[in-house]
Amino acid sequence: MRILSIETSCDETAISIVEVTGEFPTATYSILGNALFSQVELHKEYGGVFPQLAKREHAKTLVPMLEKALVEAELYEAGETAVADEAALRETLSREDGLADDFITFLARTNLPEIQMIAVTSGPGLEPALWVGVSFAKALAQVVGCPVIPVNHMEGHILASLYDVEVDDALAPIPFPALALLVSGGHTELILMKDWGQYEKIGQTRDDAVGEAFDKVARLMGLPYPGGPEIGRRASIAREAKLPQYGDKPLPRPMIYSDDFDFSYAGLKTAVRNLVGDKTLTEDETNALARDFEEAAIESLYAKTVKAIDHFGIATLIIGGGVSANSFLRQTFTEKLLATHPHIEVYLPHRHLSTDNSVMIALAGHAQLATARSAGAIAYIRADGNRSL
Ligand code: KG4
Ligand code: ZN
Repeated sequence: MRILSIETSCDETAISIVEVTGEFPTATYSILGNALFSQVELHKEYGGVFPQLAKREHAKTLVPMLEKALVEAELYEAGETAVADEAALRETLSREDGLADDFITFLARTNLPEIQMIAVTSGPGLEPALWVGVSFAKALAQVVGCPVIPVNHMEGHILASLYDVEVDDALAPIPFPALALLVSGGHTELILMKDWGQYEKIGQTRDDAVGEAFDKVARLMGLPYPGGPEIGRRASIAREAKLPQYGDKPLPRPMIYSDDFDFSYAGLKTAVRNLVGDKTLTEDETNALARDFEEAAIESLYAKTVKAIDHFGIATLIIGGGVSANSFLRQTFTEKLLATHPHIEVYLPHRHLSTDNSVMIALAGHAQLATARSAGAIAYIRADGNRSL
């Protein structure tokens, strides 16, 4: 079957076309087309994602991404796609600036291919941004005549980490119980998985998400948005140069010894703010502080994850979400963990699939279909900014 997937939960507008052979979880997934537009440059001046701007940009970019994905998949064909009820199509897209006009113009010059299913992120995320993707999925389904499956973005991150895009295009056949550490701009969670499709949240951040902490600390230090990659880069330089610790005492590791599986990042951020004050840091000081922060942030993740691994007798560790692109995190959760827990299999996403993308939404859509967790009429599909696993 051919799945078309759509992701607009934050500041990436992405559409993929994935050909699926076989049944979940042993299917193979070939990526026929994968188009992604990052709005990062637009949000830079706000130092974070501005929801109304993200919404407008998604509306402007979805049709070009659809065309790009079709061309890449060699499924683009000039011609015309009949629209049975244009008024209904316009109604579906009525809240999305200009999207109805763009889509109808596109249909007038394009013969859309057959698609068996549309998967769309319905949450969690920024609600105005999510709605654009959800409405577009419904509009496409009206034209193509196929079901829409609403997908949980975090399930997408979990499956992306298990997807071997280089060797066999399949999900790793993991032993359970598995533990997923989800680290992104909006989430820091530990999820216990006793089987495919079974998700139990056992821990989460009490305040800021770890990616958010990277971004906010970067901003405090005068570094560009998104702060995560920039802090990671500078931290590596500091480590290489063996720069001394910035400040006279180590940064705090909030909640690292608390009797639960929760996290906290607000205190660490405040500690950095107090340390920087209104000083202008030198290049070396900036790099050293980036490293000190990165180590404190990752150490907290590591401590609670290892605690959960031991407590639940975990066989597989899955790490997903944008922060999983971080090199120090990758090293910590492979080399350091291997020394004490050699029996644990650790899965990290391919670097291209670490941050938000739509391939992961196709994978999660297929998983949803298999477990029939989201059957229902298209009209009832809603964006839900706080949707949980
Ligand atoms: O999963 P994602 O792309 O979007 C959300 O669902 O939030 O995650 C984005 C987050 C941002 O906070 C970004 O700064 C962080 O992931 N990030 C990183 C790195 N690359 C992205 N954090 C640390 N090191 C990185 N290399
Ligand atoms: Zn994400």
